[in-house]
Amino acid sequence: MKILVTGGLGFIGSHTVVELQNEGFEVIIIDNLSNTSLSVLDGIQNITGKVPAFEQLDLRDKNKVQDFFKRHTDIEGVIHFAASKAVGESVGNPLLYYENNINVLVYILQELEKNHTANFIFSSSCTVYGQAEKMPITEDSSVQTALSPYGNTKQIGEEIIIDTAKVTNVNAVLLRYFNPIGAHPSAEIGELPLGVPQNLVPFITQTGIGLRQELSVYGDDYPTPDGTAIRDYIHVVDLAKAHVIAMQRLLNKKNQDKVETFNLGTGTGSSVLEVIHAFEKVSGQKLPYKIVARREGDITEAYANTDKANTVLGWKAQFTLEEAMASAWKWEQKIRS
Ligand code: UD1
Repeated sequence: MKILVTGGLGFIGSHTVVELQNEGFEVIIIDNLSNTSLSVLDGIQNITGKVPAFEQLDLRDKNKVQDFFKRHTDIEGVIHFAASKAVGESVGNPLLYYENNINVLVYILQELEKNHTANFIFSSSCTVYGQAEKMPITEDSSVQTALSPYGNTKQIGEEIIIDTAKVTNVNAVLLRYFNPIGAHPSAEIGELPLGVPQNLVPFITQTGIGLRQELSVYGDDYPTPDGTAIRDYIHVVDLAKAHVIAMQRLLNKKNQDKVETFNLGTGTGSSVLEVIHAFEKVSGQKLPYKIVARREGDITEAYANTDKANTVLGWKAQFTLEEAMASAWKWEQKIRS
């Protein structure tokens, strides 16, 4: 069974390629290397003993997308990660985000609707819920007006897939990720943030290693037990495994609807201070940090109700926050050594 993984050299993509190969799938990766490096292929090979097929290709070029699918008629499923994901950048350059995240999605779906097998998994985000009224967040919580072009591309992307699946042979799973963190326990692959990390965990590990002076904690006046904001941090390997299960579900025609949506989180919320303390525990060192003002656009809390993924997909996150932080730390030490 051949699976196309777009963005397969990125953070979540590369971990998913590993899990697919571990389960015996043949993988072909498309990546334009805009936010990653070719060396990720070596990491994947070191873990799995296999090098996936790889094409460096920019999916914004519709002709190239068409040409790719003409050359590969044996693809049974597509897991689509290739997209831009920096909230701040999307505010400054919305058209880049709409082109990269929306045009590309349309081009791929246009090719899939020509096939008789069209199994599609979409990288979505809990950002579609905004600040949900009730915690934990179930899949039927309402989708809120997006706060950024990035968030909007995830909402529009989901709608495009739903509309397409209604009238084509496309079957899809929308996976709404909470906060993916960590790295492969082997430290062969992990996150490779470009420049100053915007996300909490890479900023913590870079501070721990001495690349950054101190972490700014964005606000301690939230209505939470310790005043800092709460998120559901999920180990990237758990997340990757959910993609394999979702793909198997589509390939085995076990899906109950043309489009199914699942939250992928641990079901547990952790505050920024709890994440810092988990890092301090696993690294055995103090993390320098200071409390600063809230970051614009941040919400108070978001954590998943994972009942649907647990019962329908038969998937459950296995790793703890400490295990995820330990793997992120091991990876940071490896890439700086
Ligand atoms: C962010 C995006 C979200 C996107 C996700 C992708 C924003 C507002 N949201 O989620 O749309 O889907 O990344 O990974 O950018 N924090 C600090 N100091 C830091 C960095 C973060 O205190 O230097 C805090 C944040 O205020 C937040 C928590 O850590 O409470 C997690 O932040 P982050 O890792 O950026 O994730 P989200 O904001 O949840």
